[in-house]
Parts: sequence; structure tokens; C-alpha cells
Amino acid sequence: MPIPRSLFDRSEPADHDLTVTSGTWPADLTGELVISAPHPDTFDGPHPFFGEGMTYRLSLQPGTHGAREGGFAWRQRRIDSPSARLRAKRPDVFQATMVGVHSPFGATNAANTAPLPWGDRLFMTWDVGRPVEVDPSSLEYLGDVGHRSDWIVAELFPQPLLPLVMSTAHPVIDPDRQVMWTVNSLWGQLHAARWDGEGPVQTWPITGGTIPQSTHSITQTRDWLIVGDCAFKVEPQVLTGGDRTEPANQKGPIYLIRKDLLEATPPGHEVTCERFEIAPEINHYYATYDDTDGVQVLFEHTENADIAMTQGHDDVDALGRPCDPALRGLYGFPMSPDRTTMVEFQPDTGQVTHHAELRDTQLLWTRQLNAMDWSTEGMTRPTSHHMVFHGWRPEAITQKMLHVYRDRVDRSLWPVGETPPLVATASMPDLTLTAHHELALDDFPSSPIFVPRDPGGDRVRSRYAGSEPGGHDGYVLVPVMNDDGFRVEAYDAADVSKGPIATLRAPDMTVPFLLHAAWMPRAVPATAHARVRFSDELDRVGELPADLASVALDVARELDEGVPLG
Ligand SMILES: [Fe+2]
Repeated sequence: MPIPRSLFDRSEPADHDLTVTSGTWPADLTGELVISAPHPDTFDGPHPFFGEGMTYRLSLQPGTHGAREGGFAWRQRRIDSPSARLRAKRPDVFQATMVGVHSPFGATNAANTAPLPWGDRLFMTWDVGRPVEVDPSSLEYLGDVGHRSDWIVAELFPQPLLPLVMSTAHPVIDPDRQVMWTVNSLWGQLHAARWDGEGPVQTWPITGGTIPQSTHSITQTRDWLIVGDCAFKVEPQVLTGGDRTEPANQKGPIYLIRKDLLEATPPGHEVTCERFEIAPEINHYYATYDDTDGVQVLFEHTENADIAMTQGHDDVDALGRPCDPALRGLYGFPMSPDRTTMVEFQPDTGQVTHHAELRDTQLLWTRQLNAMDWSTEGMTRPTSHHMVFHGWRPEAITQKMLHVYRDRVDRSLWPVGETPPLVATASMPDLTLTAHHELALDDFPSSPIFVPRDPGGDRVRSRYAGSEPGGHDGYVLVPVMNDDGFRVEAYDAADVSKGPIATLRAPDMTVPFLLHAAWMPRAVPATAHARVRFSDELDRVGELPADLASVALDVARELDEGVPLG
């Protein structure tokens, strides 16, 4: 049973002080690891991705943020958003579905997928809701990005207070303009969206920009936004509890949108784009910020994986064994080896050049997430792309998935036995596998981060950059789940094959399923900004029954007065 059963443990998360249990913690490994995750109290629902957002923060300097001397503060908090507060008061009117948690108030904004640092500000995101801002120090909710009326809302059912906003879990911060770029789609029509850090969100419909499936990511160069169709497929019958019948689309459109064209066009008016096709399927992709010689994008393909399909009551795994109820809700792992590609697009000529591909049918199975140097300098000229892999895991593949993907999966590529999880590094831009380290079969590595050495040490560079930006000079931190205890491993980013140089643990500590992580140089209390308050969005409260309207007014008052949740 290599996948930890503690992954879906529904125990209430707790604060811990971690200590160094092996190796030596480098003095120049500093800052904060921040992690997004769904709260485990909803793991009994149809999909663990829809639990209310949690923020975890691990401080990388011992003895800070309330930790005892020599301890590293692991702190966590449920995001006390309007959605979470309304649900806490009236759990009876919330219903978990395969496409989110719904109620008479509207659609829950779980904000559980990815932390998005912006200087000293911290936003938490997800695909079907507005980004929300939390205080990096206290982790309390500060407000949603943009007023509800700024966004195009998918009101599939009445949403008087909680709008369903089809967006992306990976907006980007434009380092030149100091704005957030994201997307907002409605019925498959793509809109680009921009937010200046305060005030309204502006949106533009993209001419010919259709999204057949979803938009999990957006990426950028200096001059372009890049938006690809992502492999989270929702078929109509799934909305009412039915099974999937079709695999995720094997290929899909990708759109390149000029930033200056958006800025020259009044919001709400159409903006043209350049359309390309990419295959196989994707969820995460990252452009090199410097686009002098073309638009270069690293695609982490999710070939024949399906995170929209989960293990149910009567499922059978890829080897014909009944699925363990302890893993109920686990999403579908890849049925084919991983593929990472580096592709260059020339928007002027329409030329597409495949520069590099990383694929190893024995070694590289089930890539989870990556660690990059997100500083402006690192994105301009990346040198290393670090990744964690779960290994070949037939117990995380159901016969239902294999049936849906029966025409696409080559079973002759399956390894004979389970393969170990890996921490691995590919060089950029040639995608050569330069180093890898094997973890134990029963380890489950989660979202890694890159931490630059001496960040902010050079005033010429941005605050997030070290002295040698790109991803090779610094550390890779990897949270590792295991039923024997959670740990955080630190690797030398220059050579992860040396194995961890230091490990942090706390006694009897396990951590439930985590999603994306990010690094911040520091966590300081939020400063004043004009923010949207829930009490500014109550114009439709009269549509609710009197008892629910009263609850909503209580929540608005409690948020305005800073009353803690629960
Ligand atoms: Fe993601």
C-alpha cells in the first residue's frame, strides 16, 4: 500500500513546531513556504479538490512566527471567507457535487488550489472562483479580488451572494506592469482579465477564443499572455452525478494574446489573438518571460491522466484489485508515462518549433508539481525546472478510467512493478534530466518549491531573486507525506541527486492532501489596500429566505468587525 492512507485523514489540521532531524539546515535557506490545500473535513464528498481552502505556512528560520527556539513554525488556518463562514453557520444548506459545493447563497469559493505571492501580498486561488487575499502573517481572510459585478458570472443556478466565476487557479503577476493577469470564461468563451491590485477587474472577450474544457493555467511573456485549454473535462451528465463517458481532449487550442492590444482596447470590447494547437493534454505550462526570439513555453503534459475522475465505492484498480476505501476520492493518476516539452511559437508567422522533450518510460511516471525560480530574473532566463514524481501507481488508476481511455493507453509501457517517487531536475531550455533522487515507495512527495540563495541581496535585482537567478542556485524544498510521519526535505538545487541535506519533522505529525506551494521571502502583516468587502456585495440578499438572509447579514457584520470564524 504505497500511497499513504493518511492522505485523506479527516482529522482537524494542527499547528506544529518542526525540528531538524537529520542533516544541517543551511543558514541561507530562508523565507516562508506557503501551501494551499482543501480542508480535510470535506474529504467524504465526491472530490477532495472541493474542500474549503486552507493556508499552511512553514517558516524557514527557526524560532520565528511563534516557534520555540530551534523550532520551525508550521502554522495553518482555514480561510475564513464568506463561503466558509456561511457554511459554518448553515452546513445543512450546502451540497457537495462533482463540480463544487452549492447552496442557496451560490457557489462556494474554495480558494484551495495555489498560493500566489505578489510582493508582500498573498492570494489564494482556484479555478472556479475569484482569487482571495489572505494576511501572510495571521492567515486571515482579507477580501476577494474585484467586486462580483466586475466578473462574468456563470449563474447556472441562483447565486445571490456567492458567484461562480470560471477563472484559473494560476493567474500571473506582470513584473513590468505590476498587475495581475487572469482569465474569466463563460460557456467556453475566453475573456482575458486584468486587476491592478485595487479597484475593478477589467475583462476583454477574446475573438475566436473558445475553451472546450477548462483553463487551469495562464502564463506570460513580456508582451504576450498565453492561455491553453486544460484537461479537466466536465461532461453534462457529471453535473447531475453521472459517470464520465469520454476521455479528456487529446489536443486543444492555445491562444496568444498581446498585452498591449488589451491595454489599447476599452474593457468589454473584443481583442484578437493568435491560435495554435497543442497535444497531448496539459494542465500546467510556463512561458519564458523573455520573448525576444519567440514565445517559448514549457508544457507539463498530463497525457492519459484524469484529475476529474475519482475513486468511488465499487471501483477496481488497474491490477484488478478492489480500491481501498481509504483512498476514496483520489483523482485518476496517469496511465501513460509523463511527457514534458519545450515549444516555441512565432506569432507573426504561425511557426511552431518543438525544441525539446523529456520522456522516460521507466523512470518518469506521475509527475505531480514543480519548483521554479519565480523571480522576474528567473522567469526571464530559467536554468532549472525541478519536479516531483509519484512513480507508477496502479492503485490510483481505476478500471473505469481505463475503459474511458481504452483507445489511448498503451499498456505495454506499464512498468512491471511500482516505481519509486522521485525528486528530479531538468535543465532549461533543453529539458535534459540532470539529476534525480529516489524516495521510498511509501513516500508521497507534494508540491516542491525553489528557494534562492541570498534573495534580495542585490539591489539591482528584484526582491525574489538570488544572486544567480534561474533555479540552480539555492534549495528545493519537498513536503513528503508518509503514514509514518510528515517531513520536509531540503535539497541542493544544483544537484538533487545528493539527496536531502536536511530534514524537518515533528513527532506524530501527518498532513492531509496538499495542493500547490509557493515561496515568499518573508511573511509580514498585510498593509492597507482598498479591498472588496462581503458587505459591499449584499444587493441581492433579499432573494434569500429570511433565515438565510439573516445569516448572510451576520457574516457580513462579523467580517467587518473582524470576528474570528468559529
Ligand atoms: Fe495547478
